[in-house]
Amino acid sequence: MTSSSQSAVQRFVTSARELFAQEKDPAERWKKMTPLLEALIGDRSIKEQSKDWPACRQGDQRAQNLLFYEDPEYKFVINGLIKSPKTRTQIHDHAHNWTLYGVLDGHESIERYERVDDGAKSDYADIRQTEKVNVGPGKVDLVGPFQIHAEESGEERTVAIIVRAQKAGGFLQGRYDPATKRYWQGYGPEQIPYELK
Ligand SMILES: [Fe+2]
Repeated sequence: MTSSSQSAVQRFVTSARELFAQEKDPAERWKKMTPLLEALIGDRSIKEQSKDWPACRQGDQRAQNLLFYEDPEYKFVINGLIKSPKTRTQIHDHAHNWTLYGVLDGHESIERYERVDDGAKSDYADIRQTEKVNVGPGKVDLVGPFQIHAEESGEERTVAIIVRAQKAGGFLQGRYDPATKRYWQGYGPEQIPYELK
């Protein structure tokens, strides 16, 4: 890491660790994490070096995230997600894992869905889109447990920094197809260790 980007990440990690120690209520904790991630994605040295970060696979195959940091004590992680232009994620949830999604570069649309069936039928979910917003650099989106959502990049490459309560990839998350009303589960994104310069 360069000294300035290192200090931005270090500042984030130090503040996040203090918050984890002080605030035990997950919903409150993750609300209070939002300004910390806003500060990180507002750092110029992070944005500058993000121009070199490799694109992550998305779509029908297993998705990928860059893994920048995992906290040895509190287990939260910092991920990077770089989407090529015109890339859409599946409609999905993150299971129990709290997530903060911060847009660093480029513009994308974030969609949210609600489930209208009672979940009694296996492999079936009836979902409705409740929100579709266009977001750009500086925007931080808080995604709570089991919230259903998707993202799509526009004409440009997009870069997001994501903070999760725990490393994804080792547990099952929900997937949804509104056209066929199919519901299934799959493992979250493969974690690609990536050292910040
Ligand atoms: Fe997601």
